[in-house]
Amino acid sequence: MSDPQPVYLSDYQPPAYRVTHTELTFDLDPAATRVKARLLIERHPEADANAPLVLNGEHLKLISLAIDATPLDAAAYELDDEVLRIAQVPERFVLESEVEIAPRENTALEGLYQSNGMYCTQCEAEGFRRITFYPDRPDVMATFKVTVIGDQQQEPILLANGNPIERGELESGRHFVTWEDPHPKPCYLFALVAGNLHSVEDHFTTMSGRDVTLQIWVEKENLDKTKHAMASLKRAMEWDEKAYGREYDLDLFMIVAVNDFNMGAMENKGLNIFNSAAVLTHPQTATDAAFQNVEGIVAHEYFHNWSGNRVTCRDWFQLSLKEGFTVFRDQCFSADTNSAPVKRIQDVSFFRTAQFAEDAGPTAHPIRPDHFIEITNFYTLTIYEKGAEVVRMLRNLVGGESFRRGSDLYFERFDGQAVTIEDFVGCMAEASGEDFSQFMHWYSQAGTPDIDAHGEYDYVQGEYHLTLRQRTPATPGQPDKLPLHIPVRMGLVGTKSGQDLTLTLNGEKLGKDAVIHLRDDEQTFIFTDVAEAPVPSLLREFSAPVKLHYPYSREDLAFLLTHDSDGFNRWDAGQRLALLALDDLIAAHRNGVEKVMDSRVVDAFRALLGGPMSDKAVLAEMLTLPSEAYIAEQQPIVDVDAIHAAREFVRQSLAVALRDEFLAIYEANVAEEPYAPTPEQIAQRSLKNVALSYLMSIEDEQGLALCEAQFAADHNMTDVRQALTLLVHSDRDDLASPALKAFGEKWAHDPLVMDQWFTVQVSRPQPDVLERVKYLMQHPAFSLKNPNRVRALVGAFAQNRVNFHRLDGQGYQLLADVVIELNRLNPEIAARLITPLTRWQRFDETRQALMRSELERIKQQPLSSNVYEVVEKALA
Ligand code: ARG
Ligand code: ZN
Repeated sequence: MSDPQPVYLSDYQPPAYRVTHTELTFDLDPAATRVKARLLIERHPEADANAPLVLNGEHLKLISLAIDATPLDAAAYELDDEVLRIAQVPERFVLESEVEIAPRENTALEGLYQSNGMYCTQCEAEGFRRITFYPDRPDVMATFKVTVIGDQQQEPILLANGNPIERGELESGRHFVTWEDPHPKPCYLFALVAGNLHSVEDHFTTMSGRDVTLQIWVEKENLDKTKHAMASLKRAMEWDEKAYGREYDLDLFMIVAVNDFNMGAMENKGLNIFNSAAVLTHPQTATDAAFQNVEGIVAHEYFHNWSGNRVTCRDWFQLSLKEGFTVFRDQCFSADTNSAPVKRIQDVSFFRTAQFAEDAGPTAHPIRPDHFIEITNFYTLTIYEKGAEVVRMLRNLVGGESFRRGSDLYFERFDGQAVTIEDFVGCMAEASGEDFSQFMHWYSQAGTPDIDAHGEYDYVQGEYHLTLRQRTPATPGQPDKLPLHIPVRMGLVGTKSGQDLTLTLNGEKLGKDAVIHLRDDEQTFIFTDVAEAPVPSLLREFSAPVKLHYPYSREDLAFLLTHDSDGFNRWDAGQRLALLALDDLIAAHRNGVEKVMDSRVVDAFRALLGGPMSDKAVLAEMLTLPSEAYIAEQQPIVDVDAIHAAREFVRQSLAVALRDEFLAIYEANVAEEPYAPTPEQIAQRSLKNVALSYLMSIEDEQGLALCEAQFAADHNMTDVRQALTLLVHSDRDDLASPALKAFGEKWAHDPLVMDQWFTVQVSRPQPDVLERVKYLMQHPAFSLKNPNRVRALVGAFAQNRVNFHRLDGQGYQLLADVVIELNRLNPEIAARLITPLTRWQRFDETRQALMRSELERIKQQPLSSNVYEVVEKALA
């Protein structure tokens, strides 16, 4: 077999034939579902009259094929594993086909598959070709009419996109429902669901007064877990009307929860299909973070109805057109519904850890890649999150009003079309009069720009000189980079007054908080009329996805931590201060020198704990140390053990020095009111639980008692899970074991809670974890076929820095074993699971060799194109 070959953006050709209308009939059967397709096809006016009709099709058994009711004989077409080619077709015709597929055997979870006996689909990006022969590309848009035939007992509920128009009984206990979707759509938005489902129903009145029926379909035992998703959906519908003027366009909107799902959720027209983890919540089973995640994903998928469905992507290279924009939209929605500063802190802190690592590794790619082998490998943090950061920069560059005019223009002009990133940015340019030609490099250049900043205050002239130098490192295939247009939001904080000083640049007064534009490799900005020596506050609110280096002293950082008017940068100053202290401790650990805690960090934390408690959610973030993964990002060579030891040392030193303060915080934030996922309650719980984690880091007697009591009180999953985690991650196995056992028995019937049970155990720092992972993989609640289980157990283990990176290489070996097995079952999940191994360059030589040899071992196997592409890049 030859190696899989990439496709290139530069090879894009418009389709020679388009499908204007699609009719499908599914006769469901687990082993042999029959799919009949009736496609109205037209040749593109500019296409060659001899152009063959090329349809995608994989894992399909062809039963029959006809054009305009005349069956085709075998000489009329060519068929291989991927493509059906018909050499001669009329200008306009009806193509009828019948194929057979086996949903029960489909463990890849792409196309039509079964999950817990229920039929469901996942077609994005290229899953529809596993359902029927079709031009499986997003720039072919058709109206759909779909008939689903199933067993009345097994599949009482039969769903597809749009509105139900007909239903009836058939012989031998079967029945059917016909659905019609009037909005032309690409086939990746097709969906079908059939099974024994139950729904909760609600209604929404749109801004023009139309009534929309909202349904969430779940298995019966989950009916009590849909309230939050429904409330989130209604808030999202209202928000999109207010923020973007976008109204829903069908009479029915459905969400379905399925147990086996590769990703979070999917925006199929009118029939969103969700991973059950992304929709089900209950105070007893889901944490605050899970509640917020559900709210964000429900909104994200709903927002796709416009940014993705009404206006879609011309080709998959444009994926960030819909994903970057939609992530930006859901981030703004969540910021508006919860604490905006905390949302930004959490998003950025995740971004700087995970996306920066991706951008620095062998799979780095631009927001708009120019080639790929397997598109499912490109549902990445770069396409989604960096794409959202770039849209955020655009919004900040043009301002809120022009951005809205630009988005109105985009939705109006391109409604019903499949378009490109240029079309989107072009609307923003048109609405604002700005020139984005340099800005477009953000879409084509991979890698995180480094900005070296340097400032000097001239007492005599009253001037502040700020020099910024940008450099984007080489990434695979892109040795040289052009300078980017980087908006740097900033202030100068006076060291005497503690206030933001007025910024005067080139004689122009910019106010106290302004955006300066870095466009060249190096620029010096001279601020005049600066009355006192300032500390610069740079990249406020993370105004661009870059690494900003400024030689801040610890005194500068302690000053910004209390005085910066930008909440985000106050938090960041605290993180930078902790990182400086951690650097010293990592060095001390490596050199075998005694560790000494930096008193400035202790003082800064004491000041935080003694300060105003106005925003508890932000305070909880400020009290949280940078994660081991983020600390690792800052190190030239990652020493997992030194990082772990240094971070534990800081935690424990803070806990010893500030024990009474943490205890007081804990006690002041215990609440007895019934659980609600409100910003106020969430803030209180986070603060309380941060305090508890410090107390538990020193196994403080009182802390232990509080932790046990919190577990036993069983008030809500946020508190229970935190207590369980702290017990299991402590050295008190005498307390942890009974708690784990009780939890595991209580929740044995609930897979989403068992996932948390797996994760808590395999993320503990103690060295018995590898054995535990192996043991738990045999647990009846575990299955390699379920992506959530794999992520909760194997994926979480690979995030356990000290244990995954064991020096004997057994952590790597275990992961590679799982990848090899999953490669056969579910290539998409297998490819994703390799990620931690692809980061081998970041480690010491011993670990590099161990990681590489596991990658080599994977490479020896017969591989799916998904795994092949990742391993190939990782070893290149
Ligand atoms: N469009 C979906 C979302 O972001 C994700 C689709 C994922 N598809 C895939 N093959 N992984 O909302
Ligand atoms: Zn999306």
